[in-house]
Amino acid sequence: MSSGLRESWWIGDVEVPTRVVLAPMAGVSVQAFRRQGRRFGAGLVCSEMVSCAGIEHRNERTLGYLRVSSDEHPLAIQIFGSEPQAMAEAARMVEAAGADIVDMNFGCPVRKVTKTGAGANLLEDVSLACRITETVAAAVSVPVTVKMRRGVGDGSRACLELGPRLVESGAAALTLHPRSAKQMYTGWADHSLTAELVSLVDVPVIASGDVTSRVKAEAVLDATGAAAVMVGRGAQGNPWALAEIVGDAEAAQPSREEVAAELIHFVRETVRELGEQRANGFLKKFYGWYLGHGRFPKPFKQELVQLKTTDEVVTRLLAAAPGAAEIVERLEADVPESELLLEGMPISIYGGG
Ligand SMILES: Cc1cc2nc3c(=O)[nH]c(=O)nc-3n(C[C@H](O)[C@H](O)[C@H](O)COP(=O)(O)O)c2cc1C
Repeated sequence: MSSGLRESWWIGDVEVPTRVVLAPMAGVSVQAFRRQGRRFGAGLVCSEMVSCAGIEHRNERTLGYLRVSSDEHPLAIQIFGSEPQAMAEAARMVEAAGADIVDMNFGCPVRKVTKTGAGANLLEDVSLACRITETVAAAVSVPVTVKMRRGVGDGSRACLELGPRLVESGAAALTLHPRSAKQMYTGWADHSLTAELVSLVDVPVIASGDVTSRVKAEAVLDATGAAAVMVGRGAQGNPWALAEIVGDAEAAQPSREEVAAELIHFVRETVRELGEQRANGFLKKFYGWYLGHGRFPKPFKQELVQLKTTDEVVTRLLAAAPGAAEIVERLEADVPESELLLEGMPISIYGGG
């Protein structure tokens, strides 16, 4: 195979050390998730989509998404919105926060987003999409990239008209998730469109959709000529999939101790980031994701979900896999301080560490 998943490549002047990108996922891509993704071999990680209106109004929770730590680079922060000047202002804040790349979401199918003219709506408004891209690219010195779906309706090929126009407007790379907005997550990503897009543009294209293993990653890279694959759902509670994709076959079968340790570390980092109350609810979906794959019996997951605090979850995990304690200690020792570089932030934002 010629895919070279461990080779580096470039987005503008940003070097990306492997050909695996961790997908932006709302409600998932917290800093702990991104750091873990880098540790397991993702060459580039991305924040979840951040509202440019939230940034504009200095919404405290939104600004919390702009916290970057030294072990995340290269990191893209993704913004969404439909007003060029507001997007440009958000992009400036993202650059000031320390992101290496500003990514823009032109694919979100959720009505709350599309009804404001943002997300997948932009796939069908070529002139506005291009104006946003031009304005944002002129506002920052870091590369600006765009993530798209294939179009709004089933069978749409809108991305093939829009993609080259976005590149003319200043996009330094494009990510394509070749499902329609209407499809949401049903059916399959049709990567024949990714191959067509690659042939139409002279910037790197990242292929997103249904990549869960090295075999699939190689097949998509070989069939499309994309610069990299993006992994989303396959990495939820399963960073070992990233290691397997970049070529560490043994990593695909973690021991129970390793699984428990990663989950404990993830829980603790997320509590530091979001605070106990938010983290407690946020984390529940991760228990099933980590403990599935036949790693722990099903009732154990149910038990964790019902516990009242994250401390209780950690205690229960350590009781089930005592050997995890030593691994957690090693993981904790390697975590650098996380920084919020923006000046003039409300002081409470620093609280979560
Ligand atoms: C829970 C969830 C949240 C997502 N949030 C975002 C987002 O904030 N921005 C974005 O561009 N894509 C988002 N996506 C789409 C993913 O980035 C990715 O394109 C899609 O899941 C297909 O890849 P996969 O098959 O590897 O999951 C999300 C997907 C999921 C499952």
